[in-house]
Amino acid sequence: MGKKVVLVTGVSSGFGHAIALFLAKKNYTVYGTVRREIYPIDGVNLVSMDVTNKQTVINAIDHVIRNEGKIDVLINNAGIGIGGPVEEFSEEEVDIQLRTNLIGYVNTIQAVLPFMRRRNKGKIINITSLGGIMGLPFQGFYSASKFAIEGLSEALSMELKPFNIHVVVVRPGDFHTNFTQNRKLTKTIGDETSPYYNQMRTTLAVIESDEQKGLQPEYLAKKIEKIVRKKHPKFSYIVASPEQRFAAILKKFLPQRWFFNILGSHYKIS
Ligand SMILES: NC(=O)c1ccc[n+]([C@@H]2O[C@H](COP(=O)([O-])OP(=O)(O)OC[C@H]3O[C@@H](n4cnc5c(N)ncnc54)[C@H](OP(=O)(O)O)[C@@H]3O)[C@@H](O)[C@H]2O)c1
Repeated sequence: MGKKVVLVTGVSSGFGHAIALFLAKKNYTVYGTVRREIYPIDGVNLVSMDVTNKQTVINAIDHVIRNEGKIDVLINNAGIGIGGPVEEFSEEEVDIQLRTNLIGYVNTIQAVLPFMRRRNKGKIINITSLGGIMGLPFQGFYSASKFAIEGLSEALSMELKPFNIHVVVVRPGDFHTNFTQNRKLTKTIGDETSPYYNQMRTTLAVIESDEQKGLQPEYLAKKIEKIVRKKHPKFSYIVASPEQRFAAILKKFLPQRWFFNILGSHYKIS
């Protein structure tokens, strides 16, 4: 049957790096995408791709197919975060947030599906976020992008059932990666005249501290490997600290306003 071929997007740091490295150690054939030159990752075949550029996505997937003849698992991971109040996002900021986190996943999914359908086999794992099941203040468009992937994945899982292709969403809580330092911010952060100035600074400090105190990406990589191995995976997995898993349960069962109040007070919304 040969080794499973796994394609992971965004392996230059954080989750992507940890997942690619771990899967390679576990003897999968791993292709990891990068959009700039990076140090080699042990056992990982690097391939160039900017997820927002469809042609580079098609080229990268063709490259894997030419080499391996198949892609068993696609792990959509490459993503960015832009922080700021919804009111003050520029059109460009909205565009780049959604183009990367939503259209970027769409691009790889559309490019890989013809090959998975042909074999009547495959698995697509979409990394979303707890922010994809609860709207996070000052991360409104980030949450929008992740909610969108959640909806898309639900629809896709039904469309792809006849083709024996599994769709899975993995929702991490806060993890310690480069995501925090890579986060872009709206101009609000330096604009004392903004009505959101103080609140954004206060809330951003909570967000950043949660992430920096978060779990290590290797923990997620292990969970992902189990999902890759599973014949019949669930549709969704939450990978988070016990407190954050509890928050997901509260979101499901509490009256919505109560939940918003609890989440708002965590983020020091006054
Ligand atoms: N860290 C967390 O707490 C957390 C929690 C929930 C969900 N997530 C999600 O996990 C995923 C990975 O994030 P991370 O925490 O590992 O962050 P990270 O360390 O910043 O890594 C993000 C990766 O995505 C790549 N990337 C960004 N834009 C790209 C593009 N247009 N084309 C190709 N690659 C691109 C980056 O490449 P460059 O190095 O070239 O920029 C990098 O490899 C994201 O989808 C994020 O939303 C993270």
